[in-house]
Amino acid sequence: MQTEQAREVPVVAGLGSWLPPRVVRNEELAQRLDTSDEWIRTRTGIAERRIAGDGIATIRMAIEAGSRALRSASAQTVDALVLATSTPDQLCPASAPQVATGLGFNGIPAFDVNAVCSGFLYGLASGGGLISSGMAQRVLVIGADTFSTLINPDDRTTMPIFGDGAGAVVLRAGRPDELGALGPIDLHSDGDQAGLLFVPAGGAQQRVDGVPMEAGDYFLAMKGAETFYLAYSRMAESARTVLDRAGWTVADVDRFVGHQANARILYTVAKQLGVPEEKVAVNVDRVGNTVAASIPLALADSARDGTLRTGDRVLLSAFGAGLTWGAAVLRWPDLRVC
Ligand code: UT7
Repeated sequence: MQTEQAREVPVVAGLGSWLPPRVVRNEELAQRLDTSDEWIRTRTGIAERRIAGDGIATIRMAIEAGSRALRSASAQTVDALVLATSTPDQLCPASAPQVATGLGFNGIPAFDVNAVCSGFLYGLASGGGLISSGMAQRVLVIGADTFSTLINPDDRTTMPIFGDGAGAVVLRAGRPDELGALGPIDLHSDGDQAGLLFVPAGGAQQRVDGVPMEAGDYFLAMKGAETFYLAYSRMAESARTVLDRAGWTVADVDRFVGHQANARILYTVAKQLGVPEEKVAVNVDRVGNTVAASIPLALADSARDGTLRTGDRVLLSAFGAGLTWGAAVLRWPDLRVC
């Protein structure tokens, strides 16, 4: 049995990411929607995004990112797999078992976590919990979404925002004072506000009510402006909580890696917290909002471009449909992103 002193914590040991090859630039959208490159860049910071297709969906992207994270960690095996996604390849079953099998880990515990844009933080908490409870020594946590499949291609308010992709980390059991040790993590939800971002059809309610849905009900409905306000205020609130629990001040934060929904949201959170703009990780310009993949993709891009360095104190923060939100901290480990 683990004693209090010997308790192991989850430590980030590897990071990988993968994007589908098809690039869709704002100009392409402006050719068929009543929008412009200028509007999209100014209001969201997005210039282009990747869109899946040609047989590529969530499972394939998750396997690609997962295998890269395993290579990054030099890990041959894991004891469990957590897939954060709100776009599994099928409504039932969960996609995680097929991802585990695809990676050669048939038989391990594997399950999906659906917390939409906060999914990766919820996935880290779930995977990390398997380690700190002593159930696993090594866990693969993947965030992967093909959210473009839930977007009405003719809706100018949602179509420019979202993109597809996947990112993953390997968590291993380690000590709380090691670089890469994860936590504390702060998570929240508010079901009263579920109607701000939701897909009306495709779930159990439709069958139970027996009411036929309109074709458009299979696409995301979003109240953008209300969501914007709640996103930055909840993200800032949770970030303060987690910093307090970690015993860090805002000045201790070297890198703020937030969910990439909109560059304006990230800069507003940073301003509210007092984090300088140059410490804010932004890759939404190249990938859009990739939902559960957003944070690991932003970590991977920051580590690759050298703005995220070994030893940096990192603040993670996310907000999404549900509503769900949260924050976490870690000191960045010495690893090679794959
Ligand atoms: O991942 C977490 C969940 N999602 C979010 O966090 C999204 C949060 N919300 C946002 O990022 C922003 O609210 C949006 C980017 C979605 C919208 O930006 P906004 O500055 O809040 O615009 P708005 O919705 O207040 O719309 C302003 C105007 C409207 O026109 P009128 O009514 O003023 O004439 C919209 O119809 O902009 C119009 N509009 C557009 N115009 C050109 C909305 N989308 C577009 C567009 N191109 N793509």
